[in-house]
Amino acid sequence: MQYYQHGNIMSQTDIRNLKDFIGKEVQVNGWVYNMRSIGKIWFVIVRDGTGYVQCVVSKDDVADDIFKLEDVLTQESSLIVKGIVQEDKRSESGVEIIAKDIEVVHVAEEYPISLKDHGVSFLMDNRHLWLRSKKQFAIMKIRQRIIKSIRDFFDERGFVLIDSPMFTGNAVEGTTTLFETDYFNRSAYLTQSGQLYQEAGAMAFGKTYCFGPCFRAEKSKTRKHLTEFWMVEPEIAYCDINQNMDLIEEFISYIVSECLEHCSQELEILDRDLSKLKNIATPFPRISYDDALKILKDKNHDFEYGSDFGAPDEEAIASEFNKPVMIHSWPHETKAFYMKRDSSDKYALGVDVIAPEGYGEIVGGGQREDNHDLLVKRIKDHGLPLDAFKWYLDLRKYGSVPHSGFGLGLERTVSWICGIDHIRQTIPFPRTMGRLEP
Ligand code: 4AD
Ligand code: MG
Repeated sequence: MQYYQHGNIMSQTDIRNLKDFIGKEVQVNGWVYNMRSIGKIWFVIVRDGTGYVQCVVSKDDVADDIFKLEDVLTQESSLIVKGIVQEDKRSESGVEIIAKDIEVVHVAEEYPISLKDHGVSFLMDNRHLWLRSKKQFAIMKIRQRIIKSIRDFFDERGFVLIDSPMFTGNAVEGTTTLFETDYFNRSAYLTQSGQLYQEAGAMAFGKTYCFGPCFRAEKSKTRKHLTEFWMVEPEIAYCDINQNMDLIEEFISYIVSECLEHCSQELEILDRDLSKLKNIATPFPRISYDDALKILKDKNHDFEYGSDFGAPDEEAIASEFNKPVMIHSWPHETKAFYMKRDSSDKYALGVDVIAPEGYGEIVGGGQREDNHDLLVKRIKDHGLPLDAFKWYLDLRKYGSVPHSGFGLGLERTVSWICGIDHIRQTIPFPRTMGRLEP
């Protein structure tokens, strides 16, 4: 490829680092983002995946054939620009490049995504190209920072990484959203949650976590559901529901503060209202399910006691708080088989965290039933096959202890921090009921 005629790949400079090269000659490898002309000078905004920079091409500074490239270059053409970095306080990057030489690597065909508005379904069909746009660039960088802060948080606190398997023999979160696959003439399910394996991990290592994709056959089209999403799931031995909530609030406020510290440029591209993120410090409000119902009642929401909250209910509850709100003490009928109950036997020791501003439930978790016989009863009551849980029940036979954990949905967290109202933009290649490509 022509690219290698330049020999040392290191002679190239990332656009995000150009500020360190003011007055110096650099080489930028990138793609045409936009162009405009004012006669004897034309400008090309180049993007390289690390940032955007305006390159000034003046008749006085470049050879004739280079100046004529104005008529050759198209949006998304790939090019190598050499020139001098100059301070430019008005621009986003703080610098511009006075071009001395341009090498065209590939002239792009007419690019389907112009800088004007397109419908979302068209953009989703072109997701492989849409990722090149400025807003998607910002979302993916924030997603990466959230992933890093999740790993750092648990690694620094002595949690052991125990990867849960993707193929499983049993359901965790109910049987209605299971993806079933053929596994050498028997059925296997794509994992809905790695929790049960983390419980094994916590009994081995004290504190563990897993972080990977989960799969749910969600048949509803909403702004908050994917069929493939990422979840981080910590699990802690000798931990009750209140200590679990302490950890959740510390964890969430850490993620937000890391994004504020490291992603200011990306949050600005997304026009995110930072005042809404700056107050996400501990402690978070903790209310019971019954308290949440009072809020709904005061707002004249129709709601049946004992059901789960729908999106409008979550929004109504969230609107009462400017921080994530933790809802605990759920009627046990609303929760999974593995939840421990309080002393009244009416409430499950579960906790859901609802993000502010209507971004919905970002965390589900709770204290687990640690008594063997009660757990057997719950598995039966939920109509689940006891056989598949034989290994899980072993954990209650050999040194069972009180333990708790939770799962935080990555994409809903990205939605909230970025201020993006639809989850499909928060993952590089979203999977929903109607979408398997690209
Ligand atoms: O509330 P959920 O179902 O909890 C569990 O799976 C527990 N086993 C976790 C645990 O205790 N270890 O899911 C946890 C979170 C939700 O709060 C939500 O953020 C996200 O996972 N989530 C989804 N995100 C996108 N699309 C979906 N279809 C999701 N389903 C759950
Ligand atoms: Mg939940």
